[in-house]
Amino acid sequence: MKPQAAPLVVRSVLREAFAQLRAAGVPSHTLAAELLLMHALARDRTWIYAHPEEEISAPNAERFFGLISRRAAGEPTQHLTGKQEFWGLEFEVTPDVLIPRPETEHVIEVALDRLAVREIRAGRRQPLSGEGLRIADVGTGSGCIAIALAKALPRATLFAMDISEAALAVARRNAERHGVCDRMLFFQSNLLEDLSVPRPHAANALPNPSPTAIYRCDALPHGNPLSFGVPQPATGHSPFRFDLIASNPPYVGRREAATLMREVREHEPEIALYGGEEGYELYADLIAQSAKYLLPGGILVLELGHNSLPAVQPLLDASTWTKVNVTNDLAGIPRVLSAERS
Ligand SMILES: C[S@@+](CC[C@H](N)C(=O)[O-])C[C@H]1O[C@@H](n2cnc3c(N)ncnc32)[C@H](O)[C@@H]1O
Repeated sequence: MKPQAAPLVVRSVLREAFAQLRAAGVPSHTLAAELLLMHALARDRTWIYAHPEEEISAPNAERFFGLISRRAAGEPTQHLTGKQEFWGLEFEVTPDVLIPRPETEHVIEVALDRLAVREIRAGRRQPLSGEGLRIADVGTGSGCIAIALAKALPRATLFAMDISEAALAVARRNAERHGVCDRMLFFQSNLLEDLSVPRPHAANALPNPSPTAIYRCDALPHGNPLSFGVPQPATGHSPFRFDLIASNPPYVGRREAATLMREVREHEPEIALYGGEEGYELYADLIAQSAKYLLPGGILVLELGHNSLPAVQPLLDASTWTKVNVTNDLAGIPRVLSAERS
């Protein structure tokens, strides 16, 4: 008589998945297997550990082991589940955007701290609602920085910019998911450069939206940012002035590409990773353009690559920037550079 195959249960499929991922050298293989099983079964971790003997149907097991094979072949877990948590919020991620990283949460912390300190200096002691604040996120990707700030500052207006139209589409969906669309605009722009209006315009005229694409969440090109509550231009040159500019620009050096994990090198968008041969090349333009678009007293918050500080900090010249500060991440790496426009 043929021996009967043991039924597939949660405990046995997890054990088999751990072994397959470990053999493939997948980092954090236990966590990856758990997340993929949660995804395949549409269950949370508590359920999985409370039901180790629960039988898994053949189609579910097939689906799960299909995901495990793709993970073993190098696809990031987040591309398989389509999501990543950041700042306590769940973000959709696709291969068009960088997967939000935990160290980027320091950008949010520094931005909120510096805004709060500014309020206190101005003698305002109300909880910070963001009333009247205009905040730009340059290189928004999934929208994680802009959306986390929009959630933390429920009355602020957010401008999410990216050179990648595909990334902006993901950011718009994330803004919809988190209910902040009514306070967000999405610009396709090379850093902040496309915010310049190519011709002077009257206070009530529209800036020429081309070549800059301006979108709201509904994905329709939206040609009138002035109707969105952006202040009218003082000079007739550009209507855009910000209280805070945050950015996590691409900062990996192409010469470091071989040192990246395969998940990153082969699956995350090059445009989100590489800042140039050295990595820090985009900061000079980003800082110069931020000086132009920040209001006096406006705050700049930049995420840094692990070795970017020596190249980037000197770009904050004392005639333009004050109160320069460096914040380390949990690994002790200088991760966020922030300053105030004088
Ligand atoms: C490191 S990712 C950061 C994404 C997201 N802000 C985050 O923190 O997860 C950099 C982002 O900048 C965008 N980017 C690259 N070059 C750019 C440029 N010249 N102007 C605007 N955005 C750019 C990329 O498309 C990518 O979405």
